[in-house]
Amino acid sequence: MENLCKNYVIAIDGEAGTGKSTLAKNIAKKYGIVYMDTGAMYRCVTLDMLNSGIDISQIDKISTLLDNIKIEMINDNGEDKFLLNDIDVTKEIREKRVNDLVSQVSHVPVVRERMVDLQRKLAQGKKIVMEGRDIGTNVFPNAEVKIYLTASAEERAKRRFLQNKEKGIDIPYEEILANVIFRDNNDKNSDVAPLKKAEDAFELDTTNYTLEEVEEIVMSKVKEKVDINV
Ligand code: DC
Repeated sequence: MENLCKNYVIAIDGEAGTGKSTLAKNIAKKYGIVYMDTGAMYRCVTLDMLNSGIDISQIDKISTLLDNIKIEMINDNGEDKFLLNDIDVTKEIREKRVNDLVSQVSHVPVVRERMVDLQRKLAQGKKIVMEGRDIGTNVFPNAEVKIYLTASAEERAKRRFLQNKEKGIDIPYEEILANVIFRDNNDKNSDVAPLKKAEDAFELDTTNYTLEEVEEIVMSKVKEKVDINV
């Protein structure tokens, strides 16, 4: 093990619904390192655009908005919160109007460029677990640990269906499955930062594993690469 005591990046990428967020959050909490949800950053930009009445064709206005945007992630009594221009938007960034637009916003080149810059800056001098789509391929191609999670579309749709049920949201399984397949195609066939596994990433198909099992397998990989307890 080379990097005792050093700062490091654990990059967790993969398809939507594979349990990336839960895994990244648990690792951060357990080992006292910083967690960064890069999807939430694209969500903040999307919300700022919606609030300012800017659409994705208005590149100059998007640039100006990005010049002035302030995105912060804070931990408030164990709860991760997002502040957009000093206002708590943790709930708002998960609303349907943001869901519907965020993928398109995340494919605008100037948005990507600025967010990737910001992600690199925020990670400086830290031990960090960063979750997204392009962390191991683009944001931190030299990340100490790269994990790429997958799961069958059917399993991911089932997980989302059960989560919805718990929240009292009633969407038919078939509709969720169609949406999962649609998003996969969008993510993988995009011209800008398509979702793909970094060549040197450890790929794990989570279809038949529980969250605990996934964490155990991933942590054994992490521990081969960095001394997480230091
Ligand atoms: O993980 P999420 O659903 O909160 O991500 C929101 C959107 O941002 C989703 O459409 C994928 C995109 N995204 C991205 O393009 N690059 C990242 N590093 C993270 C998210």
